[in-house]
Amino acid sequence: MSSAPAQIAVTGLAVMGRNLARNLARNGFHVAVHNRSKARTDALIEQFGHEGEFTAADDLPALVAALEQPRKIIIMVKAGEPTDAVIEELVPLLDEGDIVVDAGNAHFADTRRREDALKAKGLHFVGAGVSGGEEGALNGPSIMPGGSTFAYAALEPMLTRISAHVGGEACCVHVGPDGAGHFVKMLHNGIEYADMQLIAEAYDLLRHVLGLSATEIADVFRDWNTGDLESFLIEITAEVLSQVDESTGQPFVDVVLDQAEQKGTGRWTVQVALDLGIPVSGMAEAVFARSLSGDVVRREAAAGVLAGPSSEAKLDIDRDAFIEDVRHALYSSKLVAYAQGFDAIRAASDQYGWDIDLGAMAKIWRGGCIIRARFLDRIKEAYDRDAALPSLLVDDYFKDAVVSGQDAWRRVVAAAATFGVPAPGFSAALSYYDGLRADRLPAALIQGLRDLFGAHTYRRIDREGAFHLDWSGDRKEQSA
Ligand code: 6PG
Repeated sequence: MSSAPAQIAVTGLAVMGRNLARNLARNGFHVAVHNRSKARTDALIEQFGHEGEFTAADDLPALVAALEQPRKIIIMVKAGEPTDAVIEELVPLLDEGDIVVDAGNAHFADTRRREDALKAKGLHFVGAGVSGGEEGALNGPSIMPGGSTFAYAALEPMLTRISAHVGGEACCVHVGPDGAGHFVKMLHNGIEYADMQLIAEAYDLLRHVLGLSATEIADVFRDWNTGDLESFLIEITAEVLSQVDESTGQPFVDVVLDQAEQKGTGRWTVQVALDLGIPVSGMAEAVFARSLSGDVVRREAAAGVLAGPSSEAKLDIDRDAFIEDVRHALYSSKLVAYAQGFDAIRAASDQYGWDIDLGAMAKIWRGGCIIRARFLDRIKEAYDRDAALPSLLVDDYFKDAVVSGQDAWRRVVAAAATFGVPAPGFSAALSYYDGLRADRLPAALIQGLRDLFGAHTYRRIDREGAFHLDWSGDRKEQSA
């Protein structure tokens, strides 16, 4: 223990909070720690106290008293009401200029509300997205802080020191004001959902179209991880698929219940994107696929009742060629998910005046976080070339990737339909690609229908203005 005040505090010492506190201490910062139940604080000091300089506090007043000013306090508790409860207890103990950081997975709208409320009291509130799970929190996460530039300047030396680094650069940057950091973290999770769904579809196709074993598919993923697909999620897919269950000797993946759970950040992403009017079909299909997997009642009612394709429908498929096709489909669908994710970030940035640097987001996702991947460098380069790029898919590098892979992508979606293997992520991504590049969309017909049944009007390709047709009368066009 030191008599000098602590430089930063962490309250909430479940695994993420504990590991963040240890990461700060290991990097030379004096950390005050607190947990509602004291046992966790004691355990931290007992097991890891030797890793750096900690001050244990039994309650929030003691935690606040242990800190130098302006105080910097990281809250790492469950998102929602528990976060509000800690803030409410903390605020009366603080002085003007103090900084409260919420490093949980908060909804960005909550962060905006909290930032506003604390600002009125002369306090800084920083919603910081932290990605990388428990391992990242300890050894270097990707950090996405929002809030004021003043607060970020005060936190920067610590946050950049404890974050992951790629090529000597910290995976931490000030994302933008108020809820910008938590918005970007939410989008990170939406992309994470899409990415995992696509990986799961690739696995399912290799298993059920080619009849490969889990271990054989693990080898395929290991091989893919040496190329453009190289990423943390592809790497751990190989690990999970090669795991053998100790009690049965079966592949681990075969003994796990096939019902994917979710804590809500993927769902939030889709809800928010609907409000922004940005198609995030990859993420939406991923959320729906998790919901379907958990819908036991309807799955049981349909299993064995709704027939699959007839056996004559089987195609003659070359093993290696199909594996290569699936690789293309996975890469292209993944690019669509990222393109949609970055579109949503841009739209929110415009709507809320955040001025988010999209290339910088790709940069801080290159290390530490769950979606870290080789091709994030390519995204950064694309936005360096053109910060106003309308879609990642039209950047030369990504355009070449999707255009050259599209025939393979189409064969995979066709094979999924032929073999009756659900591939909502691959199919939705391909439909988005076709929709985006279409010369004319059938939206014109939808406009006609809307005008016929509801006089909702339409615009023309050859004249300005809104028009309505007198459908039930003489069918003459009128200016609306
Ligand atoms: C991360 C993860 C982390 C967590 C998500 C996923 O960036 O470290 O995204 O935040 O894994 O909350 O949660 P669910 O899949 O349970 O929704």
